[in-house]
Amino acid sequence: GDTQTTKPKRVLLAKPRGYCAGVDRAVVTVEKALETYGPPVYVRKQIVHNKHVVETLEKRGAIFVEETDEVPEGALVVFSAHGVAPAVHDGAKQRNLRTIDATCPLVTKVHQEAKRFARDDYDILLIGHEGHEEVEGTSGEAPERIQLVDRPEDVDKVQVRDPSKVIWLSQTTLSVDETMERVNQLRERFPELQDPPSDDICYATQNRQVAVKAMAAECDLVLVVGSQNSSNSKRLVEVARNAGARDAHLIDYADEVDESWLDGVGTIGVTSGASVPDVLVMQLLSWLAERGWADVEEVTTANEKVAFALPRELRKDLVR
Ligand code: F3S
Repeated sequence: GDTQTTKPKRVLLAKPRGYCAGVDRAVVTVEKALETYGPPVYVRKQIVHNKHVVETLEKRGAIFVEETDEVPEGALVVFSAHGVAPAVHDGAKQRNLRTIDATCPLVTKVHQEAKRFARDDYDILLIGHEGHEEVEGTSGEAPERIQLVDRPEDVDKVQVRDPSKVIWLSQTTLSVDETMERVNQLRERFPELQDPPSDDICYATQNRQVAVKAMAAECDLVLVVGSQNSSNSKRLVEVARNAGARDAHLIDYADEVDESWLDGVGTIGVTSGASVPDVLVMQLLSWLAERGWADVEEVTTANEKVAFALPRELRKDLVR
């Protein structure tokens, strides 16, 4: 006979998960721009790092480009939530583009810090992922003063002019724990290293990590809904694994779940990155329910009430 005991099948659903205030604002910005000015609306880079969101907006008339030189003279272009370097604004001005800046205000805050500390002649150590759009935008504020620290070995490569005038800043969507490891490493080299005036890792990134951590140890499997190029979504997979989940995967859609992941699994944790519409999570829950995981319990670690006003350039044209 079958001696294997089957564990009860249940789902723990993280809260908060999904859309943050900055993503919501950026997506609504493109939607309202399409309604107000009509298509095409050009968008430099993916407005947010989510496949579904980008495809949905494309169907409605948004055209995604990599650089502003692909946008016809005089056309309207929206800058993505991840922020842009000043050089990108200049380039758009030269081509007479009309611009709407959907940079998340919490990314803009880091840009302001970078500008201020560069002006005060600090060396700035920016902790972040090489090649990520946000890091490129922030570095562009003061390329000659900012050095990127990504991997542990980058710490040894940093060169500063005056070790008493060094500050670290960070990308908004990093792993909190990994960032603190990097800061400790940096501080061993530069004991006078200063902390940012306020947290650069944003509330949404932090809250989603706390939520997945709270459930991970109970989970045989954690499924994170999010795209491969989404930094905060990828971090949720790592955080889940480090916090004791037996297995964890990142998926864009429910049909990407490999059924073999479910072998011998009782408890499944579900969460989603800050760029993920909740409809995708609901689709995953139905997919799981069809396979016996119908019992869903929401695990709440915070209630978020953050909201940002739409960009001023757009607000002035909206019908009240
Ligand atoms: Fe902004 Fe954080 Fe979302 S920086 S776009 S609130 S993930």
